[in-house]
Amino acid sequence: MNLVFLCGKRNNMKLVDNFNRIHDYIRISLIDKCNLNCIYCNPSNSFARFESNKSILTYEELFRLIKIFVRDLEVKKIRFTGGEPLIRKDVMKFFEMTSSLKNQYDFEIGITTNGTHLLDKLDSLLNFGVERLNISLDTLNKTKFIAITGRNYLDETLTAIQKAVSMKFRSVKVNVVVIKNINDDELSDFVEYFKTYPITLRFIEYMPFTGNQWDDSKFLSWKEMKSRIEEKFSLTEIQSDGKVSKDYFVNSSNLKVGFISSISDHFCDSCNRLRITAAGQIKNCLFSNPSDLSLKSLLADETISDDMIIEFIKNSLQSKWLKHPSVDELLKLNQNNMMSIGG
Ligand code: 5AD
Repeated sequence: MNLVFLCGKRNNMKLVDNFNRIHDYIRISLIDKCNLNCIYCNPSNSFARFESNKSILTYEELFRLIKIFVRDLEVKKIRFTGGEPLIRKDVMKFFEMTSSLKNQYDFEIGITTNGTHLLDKLDSLLNFGVERLNISLDTLNKTKFIAITGRNYLDETLTAIQKAVSMKFRSVKVNVVVIKNINDDELSDFVEYFKTYPITLRFIEYMPFTGNQWDDSKFLSWKEMKSRIEEKFSLTEIQSDGKVSKDYFVNSSNLKVGFISSISDHFCDSCNRLRITAAGQIKNCLFSNPSDLSLKSLLADETISDDMIIEFIKNSLQSKWLKHPSVDELLKLNQNNMMSIGG
């Protein structure tokens, strides 16, 4: 007889919060540093150093954590974010480690990247089972790219996207954070540029984070984005995977577009995500404070059992709120930054 069953744990092994939301999707930040300095993301407005910091989870600690998620907690999808995950030293060695887990357990691996260091890693990523790529790109204009990110990497990112679509990735998505008077004039240009690509272009509502200069006058709702696109293209609604994105086919093209309405129409009731910061803190909502205790102290200690780690994760989930605070409340938070969590 199975020991786990005898302990009566079997029914509890999913990560479920107080509102019965099952959490089977984990987003793990591999590094809290980025080689870009996007105006909407990096509140310090200064280039972060790239080297890994001692306090972030080591690859061994991450491996132990991921194994617990996929073996014991029925997690089906893991996405690695940053900062910029691909600038972490020896990151491909890490993906080699996770690929061995993928052979044993049934889960999907994705990354969210700015695409600047992606091109030469695409073959290995695919080999290691990283099958879902979300690539951030907020403009097609070189001058504007530099103004938004502080760096001149538009060509590298576009070339990486082009190569990725010619490969066998399960999904390639391009994320565009839409900011009024910055890139909202490019919505149709994006659709035009990518219309032959079998990808999903995701237009994301600009969210307020500490120091990112969000204000109402820069905000464009998903409905406004959609009508702007419909001035030039016709869209047919399609079923989305989850409720996170409202998805459409662009008629007579290979392209899908999705709108992420975190602000104008939140989708918290279907939230299945749990986030881990690079330092190993649990963030049970994009806008919540990270847990006081880091998983690092537990994962690094061999005398701490996996069951204790599971208990800690489950407990952290119990404080998850039903929905994220309103924009007014979000604007009052003063420690909520995106660099440590990468979307
Ligand atoms: N608003 C919306 N999305 C954001 N991201 C980062 N900052 C913001 C913000 N203020 C998301 C984008 C980007 C990813 C790295 O994080 O999706 O592509």
